[in-house]
Amino acid sequence: MIFEALKPQVENIISNNNNSIDERLLAICKVLEEHIDYYNWVGFYFRNGDKEELLLGPYVGEPTDHTVIPFGKGICGQVAVSNENFVVPDVSAQDNYIACSITVKAEIVIPIFVNGKNIGQIDIDSNTPDPFTEADERFLEFVCSQVSNILE
Ligand code: SME
Repeated sequence: MIFEALKPQVENIISNNNNSIDERLLAICKVLEEHIDYYNWVGFYFRNGDKEELLLGPYVGEPTDHTVIPFGKGICGQVAVSNENFVVPDVSAQDNYIACSITVKAEIVIPIFVNGKNIGQIDIDSNTPDPFTEADERFLEFVCSQVSNILE
């Protein structure tokens, strides 16, 4: 199972204190995008201080214009408010969706909690329709809990 093989790689990246937090987050994006064929854009968004908006952090994939996302807007902005995973099998069926690329068919966003507070999220776009399962959710929750360890 690819996820079980990737978990130790994520742990190694996280525990490498020689690299900055952003370097480690970028390394996580790279390892996920490289090894999971239906992960085509992988990035982090984080809350901008006390403002009700998200700022784009490290990512791999096509550059996006959406470097600032207000709370409530798009899939990412909804997760900032709901504190829940959001799995979108078909982005064209979503009213409150911010399109970054016409090739994207599906999206998954998992919140990151530090001391119980939703401080950001990992966002993954897929060019494959309906590719995400509960195994992706469990794996990405693991990734987010690892990330939360270095953001405390
Ligand atoms: N599609 C997201 C916007 C971010 S991009 O996918 C990189 C959304 O609806 O919030």
